Parts: sequence; C-alpha cells; structure tokens
Amino acid sequence: AYDHDWSEDYLFKVVLMGDSAVGKSNLLSRYVRNEFSVNTKATIGVEFQTQSMEIDGKEVKAQIWDTAGQERFRAVTSAYYRGAMGALIVYDISRRQTFESALRWLEELRVYSDASVVTMLVGNKCDLAHLREVSVEEATALAEAESLFFIETSALDSTNVKGAFQTVIKEIY
Ligand code: GTP
Ligand code: MG
Repeated sequence: AYDHDWSEDYLFKVVLMGDSAVGKSNLLSRYVRNEFSVNTKATIGVEFQTQSMEIDGKEVKAQIWDTAGQERFRAVTSAYYRGAMGALIVYDISRRQTFESALRWLEELRVYSDASVVTMLVGNKCDLAHLREVSVEEATALAEAESLFFIETSALDSTNVKGAFQTVIKEIY
C-alpha cells in the first residue's frame, strides 16, 4: 500500500546446499517462478533469487542463494555462508550417496556459519517413490539427532516446496 512502512520489513538470507543434481536449482525455480526443467545445467558459481511472503502483516523477503554441488564449480565458501540465517540441506531420496553427504554439508555449514542458522533437511524427488533408497524413518532420525527440521519435497510435482522454504523463513522470523 501507499503508506506501507518499509522500515518494518525484513530480509533474510537462506542458502541451499547439497550434492550435485539433487534438485537445488529446481527447488528454487519452483518456489520463486513456479518453474521446473527436466534438463537443467549444473550450476556454476553462485546465483540468488528473492521471494517475498507475508507474516503477521509484514513483508518478509528471503534472498535464497544457490551454488554448485560440484566442488570444481563452487565459489568462495565463506562468502556463500556469510550472514545466512537459514539453510536447506538437500539430498535425493533415490540416491543414497546424496543422503550420506548431508552430514558433510552440515559440518561445512557449522564451520562457516552461526550455530543459530535455522536448518532443514530436505529429501527431494519424493515423486520417485519406486526408486527410493532412503526411508522417511531414517531421515527423520538423522534430523532429530542433529536438531534439524525435515521435509520431503518434489520440485517436479511441487509437493511441499513452498512448505520447505516457508517453514524455514517463518522460523527465522
Ligand atoms: P548442481 O547445480 O549441479 O549442484 O545440481 P542441482 O542440485 O541444482 O540440481 P538441478 O536442480 O539442476 O536438478 C538436477 C536434475 O534433477 C534435473 O534433471 C532435474 O530435472 C531433476 N530434478 C530436480 N528436482 C526433481 C524432482 O523433484 N523430481 C524429479 N523426478 N527430478 C528432479
Ligand atoms: Mg544447481
């Protein structure tokens, strides 16, 4: 509105992490533009996009950062995590190796960022149930042990994509 008091508004940085091809870039494009692509190129360097939501009548903007899962394409790590208040650690439920990597991503997050970062473990590609290699029970147990939120998503069919980002953003707020 015309008389909107912008000083009341918020901007939070949220980072995406996880192995290559788990679907980080598609989760972001699904959330921000409601778009999905079957043959996305691997991310090189860092990109970010901003998405707003309303909480308690306030505009809360999330600046969501996305980088390469592949080591050789990654940018300077400390800059990526600097100022982050939320993190989504993504794995692919149909590739067990990507779930095993989640702990390594968590360690990296804990090295470079504040202990207070709101962190969500995200099991993406839940549409591939017939190829599942990681059970919900196992992921829930890891999330509980490490004090993380947990959700399964599908960037392909949109399941829980909004929920994943919005839960983190609301918790930061
Ligand atoms: P890097 O940029 O290399 O780190 O990969 P990324 O994690 O950004 O993965 P990306 O979003 O590029 O997706 C990799 C592949 O998985 C693409 O072919 C996507 O179409 C596919 N994909 C992403 N999300 C889903 C999903 O929820 N379900 C299915 N079935 N495929 C998905
Ligand atoms: Mg990517």
